[in-house]
Amino acid sequence: MNIDKCIKEVERDSRVVARACRIPYFPLVVESIDGSTVKDIDGNEYIDLLSSAGSINVGGGNEQIKKSINEQVNKFVHYTSAYLYNKPMIDLAEKLIKITPGKFPKKVAFGLSGSDANDGAIKFARAYTRRSSIITFIGAYHGATYGSMSMSAITTKMRRKMGPFLPGVYSFAYPNCYRCNYDKKECCCNLECLHQIEIAFDSYLPADEVAAVVIEPVQGDGGIIVPPRKYMEKLYEMCVKNKILFISEEVQQGFGRTGKWFGIDNFDLVPDVVVLGKSIADGMPLSAVVGKEDIMQSLDPPAHAFTTAANPVCCCSALSTIDIISQDGFLVQVNEMGNFIRDYLNNLKDKYHIIGDVRGLGMSIGVELVKDRIKKEKNTEAALKICYRCYEKGVLIVTLNGNVLRIQPPLIITKDEISRALEIIKSSIEDYLQGNISDDVLNFIKGW
Ligand SMILES: Cc1ncc(COP(=O)(O)O)c(C=O)c1O
Repeated sequence: MNIDKCIKEVERDSRVVARACRIPYFPLVVESIDGSTVKDIDGNEYIDLLSSAGSINVGGGNEQIKKSINEQVNKFVHYTSAYLYNKPMIDLAEKLIKITPGKFPKKVAFGLSGSDANDGAIKFARAYTRRSSIITFIGAYHGATYGSMSMSAITTKMRRKMGPFLPGVYSFAYPNCYRCNYDKKECCCNLECLHQIEIAFDSYLPADEVAAVVIEPVQGDGGIIVPPRKYMEKLYEMCVKNKILFISEEVQQGFGRTGKWFGIDNFDLVPDVVVLGKSIADGMPLSAVVGKEDIMQSLDPPAHAFTTAANPVCCCSALSTIDIISQDGFLVQVNEMGNFIRDYLNNLKDKYHIIGDVRGLGMSIGVELVKDRIKKEKNTEAALKICYRCYEKGVLIVTLNGNVLRIQPPLIITKDEISRALEIIKSSIEDYLQGNISDDVLNFIKGW
């Protein structure tokens, strides 16, 4: 594998780009993308299991998307939607209202990133409820703006040196049944983790001062953790009872990723607000907060206006993305492929003791690597080395929360591509177990 040109570019990059903007994995400089194949500037090809961090769910270089983008570029690239109007934006708002859960009147507020959409969710929730506290979860990553980072609790490294953060944000344990804080099994627990919120309501966090619960329906960067259905139902009930808004943070899990349109659809719950980003426009900068009309009308203009939000080129990309995911059988295929991947990985789990857990919904899948299955000590070194070996063998895969392999391929990946990628994961695990991956790779790959 020759990566000379890539190495040169990475060296140039390190001289000019701030390190805070990057999570170092591989010296891969992208030349082109076709579906689930990423090509670097040295001509090497990789099967993509990352989908640009879940932001190109319908794959790179989709012809329908390129066509709609090009048509719009030829008309005009942008004119701010803060002052004037554009048709793709209005078309998209109508579509988002239709596809998001809930048959009540809604409104949409556009932005440019998942981060700003999360800030928007906080603003709308506070304005509507006239309450200030926000409940979020440990392990969550909601973004890099101040509001979204205030709600993130995944690693202190990320939050160092920039505080103080937004006041009024309270992070509780996410229901992680593989690592239950109370040593319980999902079948037989009393939702002790949820009870912590009730204890907070009784002791230091008045429920009638809580504006919203912001929760990912599958915790993504925390390690693809699927909450028990009964937890989500009870949390929802708790919100309804206390007039707290239930906000589903769908930036990573939305747009077909979990085999349903939105992650929350897996629980048959209808949130007051959904937060959208990443794959909404198949990688183009666009985000949206979609919520009940009275919530979304609670802020006065221009409290959530961005000059370059709702760019019509991005909106055209989003409209095509929605067309593609709406096609007959698309989501069925996501579920079938997801089951195929999980079955394969569960077979590997039977064979390799370092695989502690395989989990996920649709094509949002995590493989947790441990030093041993009893103590479940995180095997971060194995995860990083295996990712690096996969890269060397032509598969793009990264870690989450240190020791979890993140498997989120483009939803259009073929069975042949995914089978080849899984074989490479298997052989990379064997390379690791045989001590055939040098410590040197850890000089480059750092992960989260
Ligand atoms: C669940 C979730 N929310 C929000 C964000 C932030 O989105 P963005 O990077 O587009 O601002 C991310 C990004 O990784 C995410 O995974």
